[in-house]
Amino acid sequence: MTQPPSIVGTSAFDPVARVSPHERLKDMREQCPVFRDEPVKTWFLTRYENVRDTVNDRTLWRHWSNAEEGSLLRRMDRDDESDRIDSILSMDEPDHSRVRLPLAKAFYARITAMKPQIEAIIDKVIDEAPASEPFDLIGDLAIPIPILVIAQILGVEAERMREFREWSEASILGLNPLRTPEETTRMEWGSEKLTSYFTSLMEARRLAPQEDLISDMVALQAQGVPLSDAEIRVNLSALLIGGNLTTTDLIGNGVWLLLNHPGELAKLKADPSLASATIEEILRFESPVAITNRVMSEPRDVGGCPMAAHQSVITSLHAANRDPAVFENPDQFDITRKHVPHVAFGGGSHICIGAPLARIEGRQALVKLFEKFPDLRQVGDEPTWRALPFFRGMEALWVQG
Ligand code: HEM
Repeated sequence: MTQPPSIVGTSAFDPVARVSPHERLKDMREQCPVFRDEPVKTWFLTRYENVRDTVNDRTLWRHWSNAEEGSLLRRMDRDDESDRIDSILSMDEPDHSRVRLPLAKAFYARITAMKPQIEAIIDKVIDEAPASEPFDLIGDLAIPIPILVIAQILGVEAERMREFREWSEASILGLNPLRTPEETTRMEWGSEKLTSYFTSLMEARRLAPQEDLISDMVALQAQGVPLSDAEIRVNLSALLIGGNLTTTDLIGNGVWLLLNHPGELAKLKADPSLASATIEEILRFESPVAITNRVMSEPRDVGGCPMAAHQSVITSLHAANRDPAVFENPDQFDITRKHVPHVAFGGGSHICIGAPLARIEGRQALVKLFEKFPDLRQVGDEPTWRALPFFRGMEALWVQG
């Protein structure tokens, strides 16, 4: 190991790991796969088997308040007001299932019904990219696509779309613990605007339902499904926030990988039916989300290490997805590799609710992009990776068609 192991040293907080976390994670996986980072009172798992078993274990907790004092999970959540309503992301049972099951059912029905519209939105954004001059794939395509798609699913009125995008982008600053005081003010402004907008949309849809997810959720509530207004609002916001940056990075990381692996890109161009396998390989190789976490609900042995109840565990999705025990030549980007399920979407009861949507968006974006720009190439300097910890994505990626 080049330096003493630490969880922060594998995250985008660290300038070396920001460029590539994989070398340090490889060292960790080989030398201390079940690692206790005592200063931050957190376990860190890097082997596929341990990560998969932990995320799939439905008896573990997720809510930060169950984690021991001083752990990263406790520190990450600074807003500890007791009356706060959490989204499904940090709910435990029985509330998690009560809220997630009806939300997921309505969300998936909407995605299925709106698939042609979703694909049309993506095609339109890509059609508007300049054909004869360089453009920033992140800012011009990968950021707008998920926001426009989720706005359509939720039912944001076309005339409010621009404002909605501004509020969304402001409220997503909440994912950045390194944000400046000005960014915090902007984030609070965005969250307040979104909350009041969702409140008014819910009222409007009760009076006049439309073909959208807000109408679906207030209809379920009216039919007696036990969901409060605040729970609907906070979870619709979670869909917005959870899906934006992640899908942006799926598209951005994917295009960057393909442009830098011309052999793989040639395979995809020759056979566009490989698009699904390509998306899975991008998710495995440069997962947009680096980690997820759980809290021990009772004493447990993981990989030979005893863990006490309330101890929190970070699972490295990046490290698990490159574990040579399950993936042959794990550091090779290979869109035709033998399929082994990756853990980029986590697992168990908290597995990413947006995975089917992310896959549709990713596939359509890749197919359309290389159809419209068969000679797409990277231009300018090497891209810089964002300093946002626990995510992996680029600030900008300059390309030319
Ligand atoms: C490539 C894109 C995406 C990746 C890599 C990703 C990854 C993840 C991961 C790792 C988790 C935690 C799972 C666990 O702890 O087991 C998660 C949860 C979640 N994701 Fe995603 N996500 C993506 C796209 C989306 C989209 C498109 C949406 C919504 C539109 C979304 C909404 C959520 C929500 C609400 C949760 C919390 C689920 C729960 O705890 O029950 N994500 N995602």
